[in-house]
Amino acid sequence: MAGITGICKEVLERTEWIAIATAGTDGPHVVATWGDYVRALGVTQEELLIPVGGMRKTQANLARDARIELLCGSRQVRGTHGPGKGCGIMGTAVIHTAGAKFDAVKAKFPWARAVLVVKVETVTEQL
Ligand SMILES: Cc1cc2nc3c(=O)[nH]c(=O)nc-3n(C[C@H](O)[C@H](O)[C@H](O)COP(=O)(O)O)c2cc1C
Repeated sequence: MAGITGICKEVLERTEWIAIATAGTDGPHVVATWGDYVRALGVTQEELLIPVGGMRKTQANLARDARIELLCGSRQVRGTHGPGKGCGIMGTAVIHTAGAKFDAVKAKFPWARAVLVVKVETVTEQL
């Protein structure tokens, strides 16, 4: 599936939190963000913005390998087997410490030191 549409959009509208995985030289690295942070910044079909307070290792990983994978889920969305649906989001990401996207994030999250800009390439369903 290309882009955040349909049932994956529904999951993103309800997920409490989102796992964020990058690849390091020492293996995978997983961090997270809150669903309401991402919703506050506006989700489009192709792009997600995530406020960065920490994410130093994530930033170092992305500087070497821009691939990123996100995973979210919600019991409030019906899946194939009952209540509960998940959505995997694959793409690439960059961290901006200045510019229009950073300004938009800083206006809502004054603690943010940067913005993680995720370019969505593939979306998969789970459950
Ligand atoms: C549910 C949840 C939400 C989080 N939200 C954020 C967030 O929005 N921004 C952020 O920088 N760190 C967030 N964190 C902390 C990160 O997962 C991570 O521990 C921290 O940023 C350090 O990242 P690093 O290991 O890449 O240096 C969150 C953690 C959890 C468990």
